[in-house]
Amino acid sequence: MTAANVVVREVGLRDGLQMVQRFFPTPAKLAWIAAELAAGVGHIEVCSFVPPKNIPQFADAFEVAEAAVRLPGLQASALVPNLKGAERAIAAGIRELHFVLSASEEHNLRNVRRTTQQSLDEFRAVVALAHGQEKKVAVSGAVATALGCTIAGPVDPGRVMAIARMLVEAGADELSLADTVGYANPAQVRALFERAESELGGTVPIAAHFHDTRGLGLANVYAAVEAGIRIFDASLAGLGGCPYAPGASGNIVTEDLVFLLESMGLRTGIDLGRLVEVRRIVAENLPDEAMYGQIAKAGPPKGFLARAA
Ligand code: COA
Ligand code: ZN
Repeated sequence: MTAANVVVREVGLRDGLQMVQRFFPTPAKLAWIAAELAAGVGHIEVCSFVPPKNIPQFADAFEVAEAAVRLPGLQASALVPNLKGAERAIAAGIRELHFVLSASEEHNLRNVRRTTQQSLDEFRAVVALAHGQEKKVAVSGAVATALGCTIAGPVDPGRVMAIARMLVEAGADELSLADTVGYANPAQVRALFERAESELGGTVPIAAHFHDTRGLGLANVYAAVEAGIRIFDASLAGLGGCPYAPGASGNIVTEDLVFLLESMGLRTGIDLGRLVEVRRIVAENLPDEAMYGQIAKAGPPKGFLARAA
């Protein structure tokens, strides 16, 4: 297989599970991680270090993280909403933290009970902790509601860029811009990501995180690819959504994202056929959850898998 030139990050075990009420058993989470790794998914956000009383699905975050970081070849990251989460993630052996804060003040207050400014201050403390480890732990600064908010409505791109710049100046190792509630359209995505690439792309890698709530998820990926983005989050079977954003629903579907990128000639390093098979683990453990994805339903075009390999 040719070397990958685009990164597909699985966030199903974090974003995908955070609204799911039924507990996904720990061994099944680990089986899911191992199966995606075997399919060639080298980067997986494996859990979220939030208080279990707020999101019981992540009561096993420490156990999942500890096991995931031992898997050879896997880059295992975790979401952290605050310093306490960062401390727990680092104690579990996570080497890449995804710190989330929202461009929408209203969403940030609801999501992490802080103003955006307070979260920026907390981000600095997280970077100090992570970069101060004997072996530096990386921190990605993830800007949620960067393309719109179901509480506040439109979000000013100027404000998004100001926050992004502050994250980079504070030491972020990566910047991620998220359409948390699926409001974005491709023209808007192209404009924001081109601006981010031109103003900050030289300093840190920039990732894109899209939800398919209004059906424009993959169109937005295409626009971001055109703007030069090469890191994409996605969720197996399109599970997902923020429990603190009204009306939120699933991420773009990992399998369909891989199909889009590979058919455009980009190389993900992922075996699409094996990836689709991983859905069985999700289906078995979440029998009541809707599973999305066109490739799983229709199958890839004749000869596609052989050509991609
Ligand atoms: N992990 C585990 N426990 C944590 C924690 C974390 N990351 N952060 C705080 N706590 C504990 C504190 O130790 C404290 O425990 P105590 O009552 O036993 O003393 C308690 O939770 C409250 O701490 P506090 O710092 O006051 O938190 P808060 O009430 O202001 O809530 C968040 C802040 C960030 C923890 C909360 O808003 C949250 O869980 N948000 C989750 C957002 C999310 O996951 N969104 C989806 C992804 S974008
Ligand atoms: Zn999301």
